[in-house]
Amino acid sequence: MALTQAAAFIEQKVLGHDNNATTEQDITNPGRDRAKYADPSGEIMKALVWMGKNTVEVRDVPKPRVVEDRDVILKVTGSTVCGSDLHLLHGTVLQLEKGDILGHEFCGEVESMGKNVTGLQKGDRVVASFQIACGDVWSPMRFLRMMVDEISVTTATRNCLRSYGGRTAGIFGYSHFTGGFAGGQAEYVRVPYGDVNLLKIPSSVPDEKALYLSDVLATSWNAVVDTGVEQGDVVAIWGAGPIGQMAAEFSLINGASKVIMIDSNWRLDYVKSKYPNIETIDYSTLPRGTSVTSKLKEMVPRGPDVALECVAGEYAKGWAHYFELMLGLETDSSEIVNEMITSVKNFGRCGITGVYVGYTNHFNIGSLMERGIRLIGNGQAPVHMYWEKLLKMIESGEIDPLKMVSHRVKMEELAEVYYKFEKKEDGMQKVFVETKFSAPAAAGSPALTTYTK
Ligand SMILES: NC(=O)c1ccc[n+]([C@@H]2O[C@H](COP(=O)([O-])OP(=O)(O)OC[C@H]3O[C@@H](n4cnc5c(N)ncnc54)[C@H](O)[C@@H]3O)[C@@H](O)[C@H]2O)c1
Repeated sequence: MALTQAAAFIEQKVLGHDNNATTEQDITNPGRDRAKYADPSGEIMKALVWMGKNTVEVRDVPKPRVVEDRDVILKVTGSTVCGSDLHLLHGTVLQLEKGDILGHEFCGEVESMGKNVTGLQKGDRVVASFQIACGDVWSPMRFLRMMVDEISVTTATRNCLRSYGGRTAGIFGYSHFTGGFAGGQAEYVRVPYGDVNLLKIPSSVPDEKALYLSDVLATSWNAVVDTGVEQGDVVAIWGAGPIGQMAAEFSLINGASKVIMIDSNWRLDYVKSKYPNIETIDYSTLPRGTSVTSKLKEMVPRGPDVALECVAGEYAKGWAHYFELMLGLETDSSEIVNEMITSVKNFGRCGITGVYVGYTNHFNIGSLMERGIRLIGNGQAPVHMYWEKLLKMIESGEIDPLKMVSHRVKMEELAEVYYKFEKKEDGMQKVFVETKFSAPAAAGSPALTTYTK
C-alpha cells in the first residue's frame, strides 16, 4: 500500500475524523456509494481518476447527484491540469484512494441544484473556486481578508487539525486530506455550497478565459499582492510554469521594475516570448561554483526585493534532499526556499505558493533570522477574495489568460495529457480540456490537439 493510501486508511479507519466538517466529506467518486451519491437516472460520465502512484485513467463512473440543499451539479464545459495535480499523480499529497476523481480548476453550466441555492439558475455559465467555502460568515462589513479566512475555515476538512494545528479549506479533487471532494476533470461535478463557490461568467468572456479564475489567476495574484510587490521592486520567481508566468505578469502590472525567472527548461523561453523584458536564469547551465543566489547577486547586487516560490517542495535538486525525500526523512526539500532567503536583500520578502505538505530538513533559519527576511504571502490562495476583480481585468482586456494556454485537448485523452504535462513534453504550458458539453473553441484559443494513434 502506498504511503498516500496508508495515510487515508489510518485517518479514516483507525484515528477517525473529527466530526466538525460542515459538508459531507469523502465523496471523491459517486460510485463510492451509488444509492447516496449517484444520479438516480443511472447516467454514466467520463472522469479522470487516480489509480495509484503515477497512474491516472479516464474511466466511466456514475454521474453525481445533489446530496445537500446547497449543492449545484454542473455540466463541465472546461477544465485543465495544474502543477498541483502532479503532486497528486506522484502521491506526494497524502490520503488519495484508488478511484478518486481529480481536478480543481473547472467551469461549466448549471444543470441542477438543491433547494437552498440562491442567485443561480439552470443554464447559468459559471466558474468554480478550487477552495470550497461555505460562506456562513460572509459579511460585507468585515475586513475582506478575515472574511475569506473565515469562510475557508468554516468549510474545512476536519483532518488537518492534528498535523497542521488548524484547519484548511476543502479543495476539489485533492485527496481525502482536504475533505475528499470529487474533482472537475469529469463531465459532471457536484459543487457543495454552489451559491458561494461559483462565479457567473458574463457572455462577453469565453470559457477559455474564465476557467483560469478557478485557481491559476487568483493564486498568482495572491502570490504577488500578498507577498507585497511594490512599485520599483525587483522580483525573482522560481518556476516558469503557468503560476510563475502569471506571477511575472502580475508583478509587472503591480509596478515591478525587473522580473527574473528561474527554471531549467524551454519554459523560460516560452515566458520570455510573451514578456520580452523579463530576464531569466537557467540554473541547469550555471557554471560550476555559480549558484542561483550568486547569479542573482551578480544581476542585482543587493539582491531582489521579493522572491516568489512557484515550484513545490517535492522536487529535490541535490543528492542530500533526493535521498532524504526518498527515505521519508522529510516530505519537502528546503533548497528553493533557502535560495530565496539567501538571494533577497536584507529584510526582503519571500512568498511560498508552490505546494509544501509537511516537514523539511536543512532550513536556513539563521539567514532568515539574522537578516530579517520575511516569509509572507504563503498559502492556498483565497480565490473568492480576488476573482471578481480578476474577471473585470479579463473583461477590460488588461489581462489575457490565453497567453499561457498552449493546448486544447479532449477529456477522453486526459490521462495521456497528464503524463505529457508532467514531462513538459510537446511544449505544454497550460491546457484547456474540452468535454462533450464545451462550446467550439473561442477566437484566439489553440486548436484541438489529439494524441490518438
Ligand atoms: N498556493 C496555491 O493556492 C496554489 C494553487 C495552484 C498551484 N499551486 C502550486 O504552484 C506550483 C506551480 O504550479 P504550476 O502549475 O506552475 O506547476 P508546474 O509543475 O507546471 O511548474 C513548475 C515549474 O517549476 C520548475 N522547477 C522545478 N524545480 C525547480 C527549481 N529547483 N528551481 C526553479 N524552477 C524549478 C519546473 O521545471 C516547472 O517548469 C505547484 O506546486 C502547484 O501545486 C499552488
